[in-house]
Amino acid sequence: MHKKIRKAVIPAAGFGTRMLPATKSVPKELLTVVDRPLIDYIVEEAFAAGIEHVVVVHGRMKGAIEDHFDHAFELDSSLRKAGKHPLADRISGATPQTGAISFVRQQEARGLGHAIWTARHVVGDEPFAVLLPDMLMVAQTPCLSSMVDLYEETGSNVVAVERCDPQEAHKFGIVSLQPGSDGSRITGLVEKPAPGEAPSNFFISGRYILHPEVFAILEDQAPGAGGEIQLTDALRTLLQTQVIRPYEFAGRTFDCGSPTGYVSANLHLAMARPDLASALAAEIEGLLTRENAKAA
Ligand code: UTP
Repeated sequence: MHKKIRKAVIPAAGFGTRMLPATKSVPKELLTVVDRPLIDYIVEEAFAAGIEHVVVVHGRMKGAIEDHFDHAFELDSSLRKAGKHPLADRISGATPQTGAISFVRQQEARGLGHAIWTARHVVGDEPFAVLLPDMLMVAQTPCLSSMVDLYEETGSNVVAVERCDPQEAHKFGIVSLQPGSDGSRITGLVEKPAPGEAPSNFFISGRYILHPEVFAILEDQAPGAGGEIQLTDALRTLLQTQVIRPYEFAGRTFDCGSPTGYVSANLHLAMARPDLASALAAEIEGLLTRENAKAA
């Protein structure tokens, strides 16, 4: 019986430069996908996987993210007075229970690995999950739930991976894999390999389940690519003593830290909403007709 995965770390202290100027005064995690902030989807995925406590690592603009997870008493009572009970229920239903979410400050944005290390005292000596909040991962069974299943089966660290076009592999963190009778293992990790030198076309996506030994590795780790404390470097060290299993995510991932991924996520999730789909489909159809006429 392996220790239960009870805690999840959501690193949200980066600068979000690819989404500037939107992220100049609004944290990337609060940008809306249809009508919910991005971080809502991520927190929902965590709790759906059985997580009991979410730790958000934030830096600048901390107030806005914390306020979003407060119970909004005035708003709730005004919506209820106006008879808008379903909307009030939807808002309060998305708010974590008191004590189930906490916030840790990363005083300096020194990289993803450093952001995770910042949460070490709250996580303590137990395995935990990491969800990158800009990677919106959509699937019938949420990605983290499937990863928790794999962890419970094997007791290993688990990293979500996806396949990319081999021509694009140089843009990602790529893993090398070794098949085995008890399932495949990750044998190496390389951040943005030179074109043509990627060991596979499996890239590291936005979810991890890690044993707490990673904190000691991160503590002593020198800055890597871009002068940042990189999680990939720590995982490479972890591989020397522990097994890391790949979980191949087969759903759809939107990188909401980039304009294309963000707009695509909005389109896809809006089209999945029965109350929005037909109006939006008409809008897209009109747009395509105009663009095609222009091109003709
Ligand atoms: P990214 O590199 O995608 O995020 O980091 P970023 O730095 O915010 O975005 P760009 O590249 O400038 O556009 C992956 C995740 O790690 C967090 C980010 O908030 C993001 O969720 N992160 C990154 C931190 O929490 N702290 C850091 O020092 C760096």
